[in-house]
Amino acid sequence: MCCFILSPRQCEPSYPNIGRRFEGKVALVTASTQGIGFSIAHRLGLEGASVIISSRRQKNVDDAVKKLKEEGIEVFGLVCHVSNAQHRKNLVDQTVQKYGKIDVVVSNAAANPSVDAILQMKESALDKLWEVNVKTAILLLQDVSPHLTKGSSIVFISSISAFQPPAGLAMYGVTKTALLGLTKALATELAPHTRVNCVAPGFVPTHFASYITNDETVRKSLEEQTSLKRLGTTEDMAATTAFLASDDASYITGETIVVAGGIPSRL
Ligand SMILES: NC(=O)c1ccc[n+]([C@@H]2O[C@H](COP(=O)([O-])OP(=O)(O)OC[C@H]3O[C@@H](n4cnc5c(N)ncnc54)[C@H](OP(=O)(O)O)[C@@H]3O)[C@@H](O)[C@H]2O)c1
Repeated sequence: MCCFILSPRQCEPSYPNIGRRFEGKVALVTASTQGIGFSIAHRLGLEGASVIISSRRQKNVDDAVKKLKEEGIEVFGLVCHVSNAQHRKNLVDQTVQKYGKIDVVVSNAAANPSVDAILQMKESALDKLWEVNVKTAILLLQDVSPHLTKGSSIVFISSISAFQPPAGLAMYGVTKTALLGLTKALATELAPHTRVNCVAPGFVPTHFASYITNDETVRKSLEEQTSLKRLGTTEDMAATTAFLASDDASYITGETIVVAGGIPSRL
């Protein structure tokens, strides 16, 4: 059943019990013109947030802004390649100029430039993995932190690969492991005004994962590894991210929630 405070067009079939937890809040989601980032922006927007979306390509930004606006979401789109310091500064400056504050940050950008084993990996690939997946998340938050409101919330998007980095995704997995540590460290550093948490998605058929999930045999084997016998959806990831970013999670900080259909992740 749809929530009565929403108009019928906001009653998304994928979110039957959606609320309005982000009314009056400003939410910045990186790498958010498609896939998991887009769904997170969509979910936060449907729940009342003003969302700032961004990615490397202007056309992708324009298309995503159009889709979100068509659903009545207050959205502001900018080009931001997370590795570009000027882009990051512009993203934060323009957000603060337009909305005056930042309540939620979802750090979602990642790269996986090589499937090489760690000891065979070129230095340039190692640099890119560290830079996009970890360092730029820190640098963006350095720019954002003066504008975070009391009660604000940060969510990192890690991966199930953080817990047991698989062959072909090994170094990528290690950078995602670093985000689990970063979550703990920043939760302490930013307490008590800002909570910092993390979502570790399982396998979700997006463009990023298409080289794995488009192969029928691999896809079936990934589905078999889950207890729920299916891959994740971008909406699954958005729902958990929205929970952690919301006041429903007001006593949770420094934690990672694995959203992987039951793929084992802990000791
Ligand atoms: N899909 C999975 O199975 C899976 C599993 C675990 C974790 N994750 C994590 O989930 C996050 C999102 O992945 P996804 O699967 O949703 O990917 P996706 O569908 O391929 O979307 C990637 C988004 O990021 C943007 N982007 C890429 N590189 C960027 C950069 N350097 N700076 C700014 N924006 C950039 C892309 O737009 P432009 O091309 O316009 O830049 C696009 O909007 C990543 O952190 C990934 O590690 C994914």
